Amino acid sequence: MIRFDHVSKTYPGGARAVEDFSLTIERGSTTVFLGTSGCGKTTLMRMVNAMVTPTSGTVFVRDQDVAGADPVRLRRSIGYVLQEGGLFPHRSIADNIATVPRLEGVSKAESRERALELLTLVGLEREMADRYPSQLSGGQRQRVGVARALANRADILLMDEPFGALDPIVRADLQRELKEIRRALGTTILFVTHDVDEAFTLGDQVAVLSTGGRIEQVGTPAELLSSPASPFVAKFVGASRAARPVRVAGPGGLVLDEDGTPVGTLARDGDEASAALGVSSAPRGSARPVARERS
Ligand SMILES: Nc1ncnc2c1ncn2[C@@H]1O[C@H](COP(=O)(O)OP(=O)(O)OP(=O)(O)O)[C@@H](O)[C@H]1O
Ligand SMILES: [Mg+2]
Repeated sequence: MIRFDHVSKTYPGGARAVEDFSLTIERGSTTVFLGTSGCGKTTLMRMVNAMVTPTSGTVFVRDQDVAGADPVRLRRSIGYVLQEGGLFPHRSIADNIATVPRLEGVSKAESRERALELLTLVGLEREMADRYPSQLSGGQRQRVGVARALANRADILLMDEPFGALDPIVRADLQRELKEIRRALGTTILFVTHDVDEAFTLGDQVAVLSTGGRIEQVGTPAELLSSPASPFVAKFVGASRAARPVRVAGPGGLVLDEDGTPVGTLARDGDEASAALGVSSAPRGSARPVARERS
């Protein structure tokens, strides 16, 4: 669906944002770019909708070279949730959501109907349609940003730290809704975050990036946790694995949280990590929660 083929980007002035990046994103999957600030995530994402032109290399979207595509058509065919929300302050919520359909010639009545449906889809009241962005909370504005990105029925959604500014509860709500939307619509999602939990909750494929868009490792959350390719990855994915309800599954001693998201593995001899997760350090294959050990 999306393919980066040896792309590099040097900005005018010499900043080498991305060097020789290659990755394939399958149709209907969610790929997460996980990395620290300034490692090139936004630059890579914007190559997909031709807002950034690679200095070298090629990006393919739907098997077409982005360099040969009409940028306006391309952008209108892809949903984009900007890092800072990016709603138009002087347009109502409904008009914000309907921006691209209106540009594409969809009638006013039909675009409004679609905007109202999308408000429901992202968990907002239809009554909000005639408010303005300043009359919404930050979390509500973020939801509107997602609705707007879905308004043109795009099969590709680019989301640049869309939930970054939200409290953990609203964030978890939106993550759940996004998974639901993807399941219902089959959307291909490219999602940027520097939050490990968010990456593992949403990603089928997670690419851990370091400076220059260097891929430290790409794989499923389970792969990154059970066999990190480098100390960098181990440290990155190991951070913020705070104690929370977990269970152990699989021959590799994979530890899952209550939603089934992998959060770690049991060490062979039971070490501090196991203890921190509240899981016993029983031999591999027979690990059980500590509380049930004596029953
Ligand atoms: N328009 C630009 N002109 C010059 N340098 C830029 C430009 N945009 C980004 N850069 C530089 O390119 C590098 C990558 O930036 P990018 O915005 O892609 O990072 P990021 O991973 O999205 O960071 P963040 O997590 O802070 O959003 C940074 O060093 C940045 O300073
Ligand atoms: Mg960015």
